[in-house]
Amino acid sequence: MAMRLVVTGGSGLLGSALIRIIGEIKPDWQVACLSRHEPKRTKGLTWKPLDVSDLDSTRRLIAKINPDAVVHLAAIARPDICEKNPDEAFRVNFIGTRNVVLACDRFDTELLFVSSDQVFYQGNQDKAHDEWETPHPANVYGETKVLAENFVRSHLRRYWIVRVAKLFGGPNDTFSFIHNVHQTFSRGEPILAATDWAAHATHGLFAGRAFIELLEKKTYGIYHAVSPGVPNYFEIAGYLAGKMGVSPGLVKASSRKELGLAAGRPARCELSIKMWEQDFGSPLPGWKEGIDLFLAERR
Ligand SMILES: NC(=O)c1ccc[n+]([C@@H]2O[C@H](COP(=O)([O-])OP(=O)(O)OC[C@H]3O[C@@H](n4cnc5c(N)ncnc54)[C@H](OP(=O)(O)O)[C@@H]3O)[C@@H](O)[C@H]2O)c1
Repeated sequence: MAMRLVVTGGSGLLGSALIRIIGEIKPDWQVACLSRHEPKRTKGLTWKPLDVSDLDSTRRLIAKINPDAVVHLAAIARPDICEKNPDEAFRVNFIGTRNVVLACDRFDTELLFVSSDQVFYQGNQDKAHDEWETPHPANVYGETKVLAENFVRSHLRRYWIVRVAKLFGGPNDTFSFIHNVHQTFSRGEPILAATDWAAHATHGLFAGRAFIELLEKKTYGIYHAVSPGVPNYFEIAGYLAGKMGVSPGLVKASSRKELGLAAGRPARCELSIKMWEQDFGSPLPGWKEGIDLFLAERR
């Protein structure tokens, strides 16, 4: 069934990947991208300027478009920026989500809200975090995502909360770790990669395809849309070095402490994918396949 979608934050890494995959496999879907700055022109894409932290504009614009579903991605997505600007993070990540929820609530519009593994950055990291486990964030970014998740859960009937992690790739990846490693190796320079920091690494197109499947299946609830496995940064950089044919000596073992990051991170954060497997059977493609796809895109 053809859908009319609003994608907030459609100009970002994940939004551009989602819009690309919709164009490839759902060419009859209509997509309106809402963000503050105009995205690169894409065939069939409509763009409207919006700051989601403005309640009246958010309500008015979403009511005017009258979509079947809203995919809400707009956020300050970088934890270290949130840590240094907590008021701004609260305004965009929580108030912005609240505004989108209120706009959806008015006409019982479906909402797919994208959250993060960082809602689980504290507590027991020995086992995978279940979809329904109580969140316990360790930084400002994670806190704003928990507030936003709670607002979605308490106000809407037809919602998905989809947690993703360490995204990379697609048409607008200008800041992921994998992008940075690729740029650094392309200049023949070494990279510091933490051996004590492991998380799911997921190509944006894999996550985008998962959103399409969720929107079509209409099961609602909480899902983790991540590539299986939790490689550490040293392993990721090592895999890239091998694939790019650069010397493994360019990958310098480091630690979270040495990197001097503003926002807290655990040594390891794994998400359970049991809800995804329950409804769709097989998991998303693995992180190595994601990197292979990333390298093919950059060739
Ligand atoms: N990247 C990751 O590794 C990762 C991991 C876990 C979860 N996520 C979540 O996935 C979602 C997408 O992240 P991303 O990586 O695609 O981030 P991104 O590349 O930084 O894109 C963020 C998007 O949000 C828009 N935006 C920011 N502030 C806005 C505002 N006040 N009003 C309207 N739009 C606004 C930006 O466009 P303008 O600047 O033009 O407004 C941009 O389109 C976010 O919710 C993020 O928290 C990302």
